[in-house]
Amino acid sequence: MAVITTIDDLKRLHKRRTPKMFYDYCESGSWSEQTFRENTSDFDLIRLRQRVAVDMSNRSTASQMIGEEVALPLALAPVGLTGMQRADGEIKAARAAETFGVPFTLSTMSICSIEDVAEHTRKPFWFQLYVMRDEEFVDGIIERAKRAGCSALVLTLDLQILGQRHKDLKNGLTAPPRLTLPVMADLATKWRWGLEMLRTERKTFRNIVGHAKGIDTMDSLNEWTAAQFDPRLDWEKIRQIKRKWGGKIILKGVLDVEDAKMAAEVGCDAIVVSNHGGRQLDGALSSIRMLPGILRAVGDRVEVLLDSGIRSGQDVLKALALGADGVMIGRAYIHGLGAMGEAGVTTALEIIRKELDTTMALCGKRDVADLDRSVLLVPEDFEGRWA
Ligand code: GLV
Repeated sequence: MAVITTIDDLKRLHKRRTPKMFYDYCESGSWSEQTFRENTSDFDLIRLRQRVAVDMSNRSTASQMIGEEVALPLALAPVGLTGMQRADGEIKAARAAETFGVPFTLSTMSICSIEDVAEHTRKPFWFQLYVMRDEEFVDGIIERAKRAGCSALVLTLDLQILGQRHKDLKNGLTAPPRLTLPVMADLATKWRWGLEMLRTERKTFRNIVGHAKGIDTMDSLNEWTAAQFDPRLDWEKIRQIKRKWGGKIILKGVLDVEDAKMAAEVGCDAIVVSNHGGRQLDGALSSIRMLPGILRAVGDRVEVLLDSGIRSGQDVLKALALGADGVMIGRAYIHGLGAMGEAGVTTALEIIRKELDTTMALCGKRDVADLDRSVLLVPEDFEGRWA
């Protein structure tokens, strides 16, 4: 592919260069994938107002997220198994984010460990926590994130049990992949991926293996989550985790106004309005539809970020103009990583920033801080009437 101009171009390359089971893991939602589809199609319902004859010089996308300076109000979301999309994927994505000037979030379910990423970066990154039944493991990983200097804990609330993604079961998703005949046939066409993978020792869940008691091997995300994630996570436990961490905390996976109010009451630096990229409760409404109601309820008390559905700078602009303080991207940067490694993540970030900057200008604004509802044309029934 000669010229890469969109996230979709990166997605096509990602598909061509990455083993099917990992591309499918990224590009799927749960069950019928209705929520996964609507996360993006609902962005398309919002249109933009073209404005002219406004001085467009000296534009800026720079902003702040939870008090940190950012090149644009966007963070890389935690994504499980990133180091299977490309060898040492988390390190590559973290380095690209650091150079670009946006936060990187490391998933609990990453291949590279907290220590691996800390060793290969200079600035603090964010760490995402899944609460496990094994309290000692949870305490230990919180301490490790503190020791690594992580500047925020992103506590995910919407995945204590896993929404079923059919493709993962059909593909027999594991990390590393089990070498069955169909997998070997697939790998034969993904030689670049295989060569890089042969050269790294980081091939399984290094945040967990060797750190959780009695876990020496752990290749299946499905089995691990079913056995280890704590289904009793509630607001009291969230308070306890917050006390143990003692630093900035972001509550991710809030999609309902009542939960947003609880999150604000418990106290957090930000919430992420998210349905986990349509990977959990299929049938839930899209994040962008739920955003306005949540902003009305808690927007003056906590920072409100949004993920699920962002594939372009125009999408970022729409979320910000509706009132979000920032966004997270998952698939959009994973496509870049799978396509071209660290350079691909940088390309994804550049594409999105350029789209945001140009679109902002064509809407008659020079600074992301000035984006508001006035640049949008939102259908009157956008939020819908649901009884
Ligand atoms: C886990 O974070 C997943 O969505 O697969």
